[in-house]
Amino acid sequence: MPLTRALQSDYDSIIIGAGASGLMCALTAGYRGRNVLVLDHANKIGKKIIISGGGRCNFTNLYTEPANYLSNNSHFCKSALARYTQWDFQALVDKYQVAWHEKTLGQLFCDNRSQEIVDLLVSECRDAGVTIRAKASVESIKPSESSGYTLATNMGEFSCQSVVVATGGLSFPTMGATGFGYQVAEQFGHELIEQKPALVPFTMSQVWLKQFAELSGVSSEVIASCNGQSFRENILFTHRGVSGPVILQVSSYWNQGDTVSINWIPGTDIHVWLQSCAEQRPKAQTATILSEHMTKRLSHALCEQGQLRLLTDKGQKPIAQYTPVQLEELANALENWALKPSGTEGYKKAEVTLGGVDTATVSSKTFESRLQPGLFFIGEVLDVTGHLGGFNFQWAWASGHCAGQYI
Ligand code: FDA
Repeated sequence: MPLTRALQSDYDSIIIGAGASGLMCALTAGYRGRNVLVLDHANKIGKKIIISGGGRCNFTNLYTEPANYLSNNSHFCKSALARYTQWDFQALVDKYQVAWHEKTLGQLFCDNRSQEIVDLLVSECRDAGVTIRAKASVESIKPSESSGYTLATNMGEFSCQSVVVATGGLSFPTMGATGFGYQVAEQFGHELIEQKPALVPFTMSQVWLKQFAELSGVSSEVIASCNGQSFRENILFTHRGVSGPVILQVSSYWNQGDTVSINWIPGTDIHVWLQSCAEQRPKAQTATILSEHMTKRLSHALCEQGQLRLLTDKGQKPIAQYTPVQLEELANALENWALKPSGTEGYKKAEVTLGGVDTATVSSKTFESRLQPGLFFIGEVLDVTGHLGGFNFQWAWASGHCAGQYI
């Protein structure tokens, strides 16, 4: 059965972007009887959904709450998240009998392929009578003389009563990301909150890489903290720096020049533990002691390189030979190990874009612009960025659903 009905030039609403938020908005409005067209310039729709979660789409998080989002206005996301919850999306996934599992920390992943999520959205759009066009580039948007808008595209002109900007952020340009949504926002007088790559690996200096690049592939559970935010998950050493969920999380709070603090032995009073080691195994070398809490490879590298090298005598110092002051110094160094990234891997590797369209002039109820009637912004193009773990898709579903009730 064809996905689309005959192309026509007059629509109630045109949604730019057939990603997570755009498709959710389209199906919601379509079920309300609205005549909706979705345009996407990419050759396939829902490309980011397909590559997400390592091909298994972490489609929501059981513990979604407003505290999981960064925005200049921390209240903006509350209403939509309450009106379309993680349980609502889970129910939609269950309606299509898509098999899923909770991986960790409330993160729900498909058992099989992310494509199943795209398929269910397309199926809902089809049932709701939505028209979807891929390979459709929007060249300009003009308010019509009477009311509504005219969109010039590579497929000709379309007119509509309302336009929804669902073009996402700047990350992963290879998947169709563009700054078009920001241009539209500026065209109609909206302010932008500065954008930067987030949920992104850090790159490290050449000097640091000489010391630690040999650990590439090693991972360990740590607490990483930056600018008052802490996360407990795995760090992963890479050829160019560090990655892993804890680094992606903390990257959203990191600014150029900041130091990230790493606690290598989370959940333990390190000073008390070292003291008891000194009493019970006085002759044991520092690196051997540390390998109780991490791999040998990591404990040796941490002691032989960088900030612990002198203090631990390259890991060989017996634990009982530390003075009380040195033992405290060692505990502090293990709890607040300084990681100073030289930068990030940028939009090429960032899962999301921090910042975006300032929410101050967008309604948190309808997602309509307060400056330009009939213009809506949803999803990642807005200045709302979730933590790692399914929160960004939940924002896309929630904002898309809520806007779909008003367009
Ligand atoms: P989205 O990016 O989904 O869609 C925007 C659409 O607009 C695209 O289809 C694009 O082609 C189209 N577009 C852009 N410019 C256009 C133009 N000028 N004209 C027409 N169309 C245009 N999140 C999560 O919660 N769980 C996860 O597992 C992951 N995993 C993940 C992995 C990777 C590698 C990335 C890059 C990102 C994730 N994310 C994620 C983040 C998640 O993918 C993202 O937050 C949502 O897709 C945002 O949904 P939107 O609808 O806002 O934009």
